[in-house]
Amino acid sequence: CEVHRGALLHFLDDPGNDPEPIPGSVEFLEDGLLVVHDGKVLLTGPAEEWLPRLPDGVPVSHWQDGLIVPGFIDTHVHMPQLGVMASYGAQLLDWLETYTFPHEARFSDGDWAQAEAQRFTDLLLSHGTTSGLVFCTSHPESVQALFEAAEQRGMGLTAGKVMMDRHAPDDLTDTAQGSYDDSLSLLKTWHNRGRQRYAITPRFAATSSPEQLSLAGRLAGEYPDVLVQTHWAENTGEIQWIRELFPERASYLDVYDHYGLLGDHTVLAHGIHIDDADRALLAQRGSRIAFCPTSNTFLGSGLFDFREARAAGVMVGLASDVGGGTSLSMLATMAEAYKVCRLRGQTLTPWQAFYLATLGNARVLHQAQHTGNFEAGRYADFVVLDQAGSPQLAMKRPYTRSPFEALFNLMMLGDDRAIQATAVAGQVHHQRSDKAPALSSH
Ligand code: GUN
Ligand code: FE
Repeated sequence: CEVHRGALLHFLDDPGNDPEPIPGSVEFLEDGLLVVHDGKVLLTGPAEEWLPRLPDGVPVSHWQDGLIVPGFIDTHVHMPQLGVMASYGAQLLDWLETYTFPHEARFSDGDWAQAEAQRFTDLLLSHGTTSGLVFCTSHPESVQALFEAAEQRGMGLTAGKVMMDRHAPDDLTDTAQGSYDDSLSLLKTWHNRGRQRYAITPRFAATSSPEQLSLAGRLAGEYPDVLVQTHWAENTGEIQWIRELFPERASYLDVYDHYGLLGDHTVLAHGIHIDDADRALLAQRGSRIAFCPTSNTFLGSGLFDFREARAAGVMVGLASDVGGGTSLSMLATMAEAYKVCRLRGQTLTPWQAFYLATLGNARVLHQAQHTGNFEAGRYADFVVLDQAGSPQLAMKRPYTRSPFEALFNLMMLGDDRAIQATAVAGQVHHQRSDKAPALSSH
């Protein structure tokens, strides 16, 4: 086995959203050990207690200044939109038309798709993200490329081919039956191959014909353990358009429900402009919302109501939504989530933010039995956070008096520079060259 030593923090359950976490929900060790065997967590515990009990010759990586936390999980991100990030001056619908669709069209080129998939997975790791739920493009090759890149890095991703048969350029649209066939074939190849999982991925109701939505729902019914991902209630212009396209449906959410797309394996990105009836239906169906704060502020979409969703019993995950979002960093995403909550007169504690980015998101994606915390038997997916990893973090560090403050500094001031190392299944795949651990052998 291998051993990683440093400050260590992970969640055993939802800590709530009060300054004091619910007792038993969080484990924090000022000087802790993460013991890894065969890519899985063997145990965590205080260094003082466990160092003397390690067998002779076990390698110990001591991450001084490091805080070891579970790898971040991103519940909504677009692999083909790295180049779309920071596109100026648009809201959702003109942003899609002006910037996003032309860029996604480039993924018909398999070499381009492969290079971007490699770049994307490397960037996830350098930002501390070890897993996630990912949109590809409507080209099956883009899905193939992403799963291959994830597999090469030992990462487990959940991803799918965008289904989109109308209201998009010809070089991006598929057909209802073609999208069903391609999705099914990719699903059969990739779902549960190693750590990869497939997700049925209709882009959103505006770009799918009723026939396509119906086939997507049929596929979801045929494979109830496969996730469904789509976009929902992000922008007021979008919502008006859906009303015109589906006048016979009671609401935007009712469109998805009608076509059999709302179950407990469904993750809906955004869900900003919604009401109590929507929340009640989501809670009843067990469908989840991916809260995408940097995208929602950047595109001027609106302020997600975190408190109301929680109060209604809706599961909420946290997501970057790159390229609508402005950072792949889940730390930067937590910061923006906090600000959105403040603008709504609400709050987001660092406990809750770090919970969401780790165990909470694992639960949203139905993968908490494999990832999200350091309970024995989980994959050893972890990040070493450098509490002095950027000039701002280093500036604030001497004033920091508690784990609560340390976490809050990291989320408000941190970004990819705070990622000292990222490991997937015990293997370090990204490490800052200027911040190597002290190696010893016990
Ligand atoms: N709605 C439909 N497609 C998209 C997309 O690519 N990004 C975002 N943010 N919203 C969408
Ligand atoms: Fe999105």
